[in-house]
Amino acid sequence: MKAAVLRELNAPLTIENVDIDKPGPNEVLTRTAASGICHSDLHIIEGGIPMAMPCILGHEPSGIVEAVGSDVKDFKPGDHVIGCLNAWCGTCNYCLTGRPHLCMPPEMLMRLDGTSRLTQGGSPVVQFALSSFAEQMLTHERALVKIKDEMPLDRASLIGCGVTTGIGAALRTAKVEPGATTAIIGCGGVGLSALQGCRIAGAGRIIAVDTMDWKLELARDLGATDVVNGTEGDAVAQVQELTGGGVDYAFECIGLQPTIKQAVGMAAKGGAAVLVGVLPIDQEVSLSASEITLQEKRVLGSFMGSNAFRRDMPQYVDYYLDGRLRLDEMISKRISLDEINPAFDAMRGGEVARSVIVFD
Ligand SMILES: NC(=O)c1ccc[n+]([C@@H]2O[C@H](COP(=O)([O-])OP(=O)(O)OC[C@H]3O[C@@H](n4cnc5c(N)ncnc54)[C@H](O)[C@@H]3O)[C@@H](O)[C@H]2O)c1
Ligand SMILES: [Zn+2]
Ligand SMILES: [Zn+2]
Repeated sequence: MKAAVLRELNAPLTIENVDIDKPGPNEVLTRTAASGICHSDLHIIEGGIPMAMPCILGHEPSGIVEAVGSDVKDFKPGDHVIGCLNAWCGTCNYCLTGRPHLCMPPEMLMRLDGTSRLTQGGSPVVQFALSSFAEQMLTHERALVKIKDEMPLDRASLIGCGVTTGIGAALRTAKVEPGATTAIIGCGGVGLSALQGCRIAGAGRIIAVDTMDWKLELARDLGATDVVNGTEGDAVAQVQELTGGGVDYAFECIGLQPTIKQAVGMAAKGGAAVLVGVLPIDQEVSLSASEITLQEKRVLGSFMGSNAFRRDMPQYVDYYLDGRLRLDEMISKRISLDEINPAFDAMRGGEVARSVIVFD
């Protein structure tokens, strides 16, 4: 099969032929229908998230099941599915306490018997959970969820990471209440999803912050009540002024030191900064401990929208089908696998909300 392979940091991915194995007992072979391109893939290319190479990235996919292993009960060929990197075990403390997104056991992500699902000339190619920048995916069955056939597969792919991360940050991690005041810093695929999560939760005020006017217009269209361009003056002061003292929830959806500090600054007394953006592993942020303690601000980490994805993703599909979740507007470009490197350039330049690879 054709796949985009990462061989070297900060270098273009190369389109190569890669061999994919037959499904083992608990594995499912899926033909990739579409894969969104998430900024976390770019973090890996730029070295901000360490990963062994050669590696196939891509973790925001939809597809159609082609073959299943002998012990698979939940899927059959022809099923439409979304993939999620939060495969879970079902028996650990995290799974049993309703936090399966924190489980991530290695045997769900790769084989532990020394064989590799992906190879080239017999040598292993590293799988990044799903490795959806490829025509097919071979995964543990618990990395997939079945969805309704009427859900368009290009839009479904967005739910695999960005949408679940953003909506979940609002609904599951922060548990935004009706009427709450909110700010979203960064209006890419993840931020626009957090914004929609706040809208679905019934937030009273949703302030979108970005540096690109076209993203702020899109944010307004998707439900922002106010917009702030971060290049025009002090974004924290503007949010403080708009709300008379700060927001109940400020979502950082970029992964930059200054905007993480801004999120804490935008939170009102007793409010929360919800950290969704991923900071490169070698960077840290210093925050005012006295501001956090004396104003009782909370700093919440939010990983993959605190999902239980077999419950959440079909629900988000229903939200799309009944009109509550808007995904059409979030796809800026549909591209082929061969166009993946320019799509990363478009992300670097802030030209897209999401690019989606659509396979034949
Ligand atoms: N926590 C998780 O589980 C999780 C999951 C997926 C992605 N992420 C992370 O979320 C972040 C966002 O991902 P994405 O795919 O939406 O990225 P993206 O590149 O599409 O969006 C980032 C947005 O931030 C805006 N921006 C950049 N600098 C800014 C500034 N100084 N002030 C205001 N806005 C600014 C850009 O214009 C863009 O709209 C990334 O760090 C990604 O790795 C986290
Ligand atoms: Zn992602
Ligand atoms: Zn578990």
